[in-house]
Amino acid sequence: MPDTLTITDNRTGKKYEIPIEHDTVKAMDLRQIKVHEDDFGMMAYDPAYMNTASVKSNITFIDGDKGILRYRGYPIEQLAEHCTSFLEVAYLLLHGELPDRPHLEDWRYNIKMHTFVHENIKKLMEGFRYDAHPMGMFISTISALSTFYPEAKDIMNPDVRRKQMYRLIGKVPTIAAFTYRHSKGMPYIYPDNELTYAGNFLNMMFKIGQSYKPHPVLEHALTVLFILHADHEQNCSTNTMRSIGSSHIDPYSACAGAAAALWGPLHGGANEAVLRMLDEIGSKNNVSAIIKDVKEGKRKLMGFGHRIYKNYDPRAKVIKQLAYEVFEVTGTNPKLDLALELERIALEDDYFVKRKLYPNVDFYSGLIYEAMGFPMDFFPVLFAIPRTAGWLSHWQEHLLDPEQKIARPRQIYLGAGERNWIAINKRS
Ligand code: ACO
Repeated sequence: MPDTLTITDNRTGKKYEIPIEHDTVKAMDLRQIKVHEDDFGMMAYDPAYMNTASVKSNITFIDGDKGILRYRGYPIEQLAEHCTSFLEVAYLLLHGELPDRPHLEDWRYNIKMHTFVHENIKKLMEGFRYDAHPMGMFISTISALSTFYPEAKDIMNPDVRRKQMYRLIGKVPTIAAFTYRHSKGMPYIYPDNELTYAGNFLNMMFKIGQSYKPHPVLEHALTVLFILHADHEQNCSTNTMRSIGSSHIDPYSACAGAAAALWGPLHGGANEAVLRMLDEIGSKNNVSAIIKDVKEGKRKLMGFGHRIYKNYDPRAKVIKQLAYEVFEVTGTNPKLDLALELERIALEDDYFVKRKLYPNVDFYSGLIYEAMGFPMDFFPVLFAIPRTAGWLSHWQEHLLDPEQKIARPRQIYLGAGERNWIAINKRS
């Protein structure tokens, strides 16, 4: 059987043989389909990229129907269970293989050498209003890094690229923690490179006086959460990273754009929305009223549903389990019972079953973050820290892909045809 698709254009009766590769046809192969020789040719229309592959990627695999997520072939459950440091997973995403001991040590060393920020970054952050949203501060500061490292625009130089990766992965926890300390009016804590990636971050967040030590269970939980959030193939923010990066701008500017995309409540902002929703529900007695509103289309059940997963999000499973370990240390989050009840009712309800709506990664993560002492508006920042490694992996893959060019979709223009300019006093 030939690997082709035969298309008959009923407008002209002409037949076209289109090659199929990886169960996909190339949209550009449709361009030959024309009624008249001087027609532009046929395009594919796909708002929100519902059925369009824009890249060939070797980084992350998702089977949304089966609830499978793998980084570079490794199941997310195995990485979450066995990797003792987030940097091991960051290395895997960026290099394609798990590091052996010397490579991991070298990688760690290089990232630790780049955890401090220029003192002027600190001054810049001091300029934010006392009540600035941490994600707004995070995005602006990441963007400002490009002014400190102008050589970063030499994106085709592998050494320069590597250096910016060390810097970005090294500095995002520092900048994130500074946004928190700024909101609290507390002095910024400098990185402690003797600690792990997650431990150093907790230290910069919560240290007061000399006695603070990150709790090992919470440090481990944060490591797992970082691993689970490190990549998720062509999601909205990664697509943004690739798209901005395709113009060959420096990675700081591209990362700032990706982080902005992540902030939206339909993407990384959903865990905050889940907690606000649970706060609003207040008690188990109100769960059925919320479900009713959701089914009548008056609102969405935040933390439910996913563009790709039509099954339980594998990350949500790990997080749900992790929540119990964290609550052993922090005491339980009273909203957990409410969340469990909401999940129980939703999973039995026809509305959710038919639409294959299951809890996503954000449904339980906010409960853990809150129990660990992170304020709600800080949640998207917690997401952006590990996702930086994912964004950088895709950015690099995109730059090195000979099939890629500057991202520039087409449109179907439905506006006015040509018309003549009208003087202002004659306009109605
Ligand atoms: N609550 C109620 N109904 C929902 C929900 C939800 N959370 N999600 C989807 N639906 C319904 C839609 O109304 C639609 O119903 P219809 O067919 O009767 O019109 C159907 O399910 C399909 O939904 P779409 O909106 O077409 O799904 P899409 O793939 O565009 O959206 C999204 C995915 C944005 C994640 C959506 O499920 C949503 O808004 N969820 C809530 C926000 C959320 O939790 N986001 C986090 C996602 S995970 C992440 O980004 C890290």
